[in-house]
Amino acid sequence: MTMPTQVKLVEVGPRDGLQNEQETIPAAVKIELINRLSAAGFANIEAAAFVSPKWVPQMATSTEVMAGIVRKPGVIYSALTPNMQGFEAALAAGADEVVIFGSASEAFSQKNINCSIAESIARFAPIAYAAKAANLRLRGSISCAFGCPYQGQVTIGNVQDVLRGLRALGCDEIDIADTIGVATAGQVKQVMQAAAEEFPISALSGHFHDTYGQALANIFASLEVGISIFHSSVAGLGGCPYAKGATGNVASEDVLYMLRGLDIDTGIDLDAVVDAGQFMARHLGRKAASRAGNALAAKRV
Ligand code: HMG
Ligand code: MG
Repeated sequence: MTMPTQVKLVEVGPRDGLQNEQETIPAAVKIELINRLSAAGFANIEAAAFVSPKWVPQMATSTEVMAGIVRKPGVIYSALTPNMQGFEAALAAGADEVVIFGSASEAFSQKNINCSIAESIARFAPIAYAAKAANLRLRGSISCAFGCPYQGQVTIGNVQDVLRGLRALGCDEIDIADTIGVATAGQVKQVMQAAAEEFPISALSGHFHDTYGQALANIFASLEVGISIFHSSVAGLGGCPYAKGATGNVASEDVLYMLRGLDIDTGIDLDAVVDAGQFMARHLGRKAASRAGNALAAKRV
């Protein structure tokens, strides 16, 4: 397998990145962040989550955020939709892609979306149907594909089962997610290869949190088996409120720096992403969690 020469990087900072922040971030700040990210060249930005505000208060501004952003032509603005109530809100807000998010772990499914895996697939069916009818892209996400904070081990068979369920719903793209960042490169290759037996590899993505510092290695391992879509978060923001101890997604700046070194094209301007990361870090009052981002920013002054 030769490495892809082009990669699609999905920026998830405005959603996965910010959902875990305790302080409410004003919609205007989220809007500026998203506008900076689209200007930097991201063609797909996860901008919102139409979930229960009781479960994830930070995402309560999603409608306002979607209404306030400058829509850059061609950019896909995605939103999480756990149920029809969320779908209706995402549709009204003008999302280009809706994300149905399930889990390979039964225990995590209960904690995150308050239902079993089987119930989640049944709950997603009307969303999938409505998304197709409205001509929206449909993405599926599989949490805890490499390990679960509640039940521990998750098998490759568990991942393949959910993949088949999401495939049957007509997903255009499916994410294999390491929610708690525990995976290592050998395991990643095995899981990705098994996933590719069930779904076209060109439409599979890797969503790696960097809790154990393995995310870049895991992306490299995924590239080696032919995965060409990855999720990342500017300034390494993030964490899941329902996965205790899970830290941020892999930082977009770090991924871009690695891909640039590998001569893999993304169409994204690393310097502009560094600026966006530093903007967000200033707002949050702490240093960005991006090694490459901070190094590049330090070189400027
Ligand atoms: P539930 O409590 O079982 O839902 O939660 P319900 O249908 O019984 O409704 C309860 C209340 O929530 C009602 O309000 C509903 O109106 C409201 P009340 O009558 O009590 O005032 N409600 C909603 N409000 C706004 N938007 C909605 C919505 N739905 C219900 N869409 C539910 C079930 C799925 C809603 C809840 O568990 C939930 O919102 N979960 C989302 C959790 C979440 O967002 N987690 C983080 C994202 S997943 C993630 O980060 C992983 C990922 O990054 C990949 C990876 O790393 O693994 C994607
Ligand atoms: Mg995540």
